[in-house]
Amino acid sequence: MKSKAAILWEPHTKWSVEEIELDPPKAGEVLLKLAASGLCHSDEHLVTGDLPFELPIIGGHEGAGVVEEVGPGVDWLAEGDHVIFGFIPACGRCPSCASGHENLCDLGMYLGAGRQISDHTARHHAGGTDLGLMCLLGTFSERTVVNEASCIKVDPDVALDKACLLGCGVVTGWGSAVYAAGVKPGEDVAIIGIGGIGINAVQGARLAGARQIFAIDPVEFKRDQAIEFGATHTAASLEEAQAIIGGATAGRMANKVIMTMGVGKGDLVAGALAITAKLGRVVITNLHAASETQVTMSALDMTLMEKQVIGSLFGSANPRLDIPRLLGLYEAGQLKLDELVTRTYRLEEINHGYEDMREGRNLRGVITLS
Ligand SMILES: NC(=O)c1ccc[n+]([C@@H]2O[C@H](COP(=O)([O-])OP(=O)(O)OC[C@H]3O[C@@H](n4cnc5c(N)ncnc54)[C@H](O)[C@@H]3O)[C@@H](O)[C@H]2O)c1
Ligand SMILES: [Zn+2]
Ligand SMILES: [Zn+2]
Repeated sequence: MKSKAAILWEPHTKWSVEEIELDPPKAGEVLLKLAASGLCHSDEHLVTGDLPFELPIIGGHEGAGVVEEVGPGVDWLAEGDHVIFGFIPACGRCPSCASGHENLCDLGMYLGAGRQISDHTARHHAGGTDLGLMCLLGTFSERTVVNEASCIKVDPDVALDKACLLGCGVVTGWGSAVYAAGVKPGEDVAIIGIGGIGINAVQGARLAGARQIFAIDPVEFKRDQAIEFGATHTAASLEEAQAIIGGATAGRMANKVIMTMGVGKGDLVAGALAITAKLGRVVITNLHAASETQVTMSALDMTLMEKQVIGSLFGSANPRLDIPRLLGLYEAGQLKLDELVTRTYRLEEINHGYEDMREGRNLRGVITLS
């Protein structure tokens, strides 16, 4: 069938919205009509080349939609079911899934190639060329075919145009605070970069019982939003934050520091450690360029003060557990979802949406697809 999708043909070019040819789902696959897709910074890394996935690729990995057709062997989903995609598939059978680390499912190995997990071929084509799928999803599309391992079924009354954000940003940010940082009641937490991920780290830290939450971002709008979402202090830079956090913690600094900037920078890790308390932990959630291998930090500082630096993927969460859990917190009025969406766009406006992200105008932009 025909569909329309935003394709990246070459790095450093714009998303091209074109008609594509979509094959029916094969065994273990599902065809869905997309409701909406968030504009996460990770797709921007495809454009800049920081994330060297195979091109051409249909972008988008923060989406939700409605099942239109299931392939052979898919017995737990049916036409009309509502689905939020996990941006890492979760098979439920590999050692990572079995040990409660679905975010590290072995199927993640197929992300870079972007082809279907079942037979490593493409269901999406444009002008005879096979197209890859960002995170095996390609949510910048009217319709897509994905593996059932990427699907999380939700109640039909869930508003998919907001809940799509649970497919990446909300779980990633919330889990970075709750799971990766392991924020405990009474702790002081700093979050560096208040975009779609960082703002949800603020929500996670608040729900975990943080005493003070320091939101650091050069953009005033982001700092103002952080206060709305539960931050207690803001700073425009790491340097400014150092003085503010020092003053608010009697010089002890933040127990947990979460890095959620648009692009990670190796030479800023030392600055993150400088605002970290003894026995504190720095969580690297933002993606650094794949080519970057140098990080600046004082190893002596780590030893003498027993500081930790760890990475976190998809909030170190279990999407099949945590997406329904976070929907429950939303329904109970404890997690903000509607307020995350600053602007909505049509698929044809995707480049405008990313321009707004680069300019810091959105907490999250969302493409409305149906
Ligand atoms: N680990 C994961 O599983 C995972 C998942 C999704 C996204 N990410 C990554 O997380 C990062 C954030 O994504 P996003 O969608 O929230 O991006 P975003 O562009 O919406 O937000 C980034 C924010 O960082 C701020 N910023 C930039 N430089 C800064 C600096 N030096 N100090 C403080 N703030 C600064 C920007 O003003 C902006 O508000 C990206 O690198 C993205 O690829 C990681
Ligand atoms: Zn994302
Ligand atoms: Zn698995």
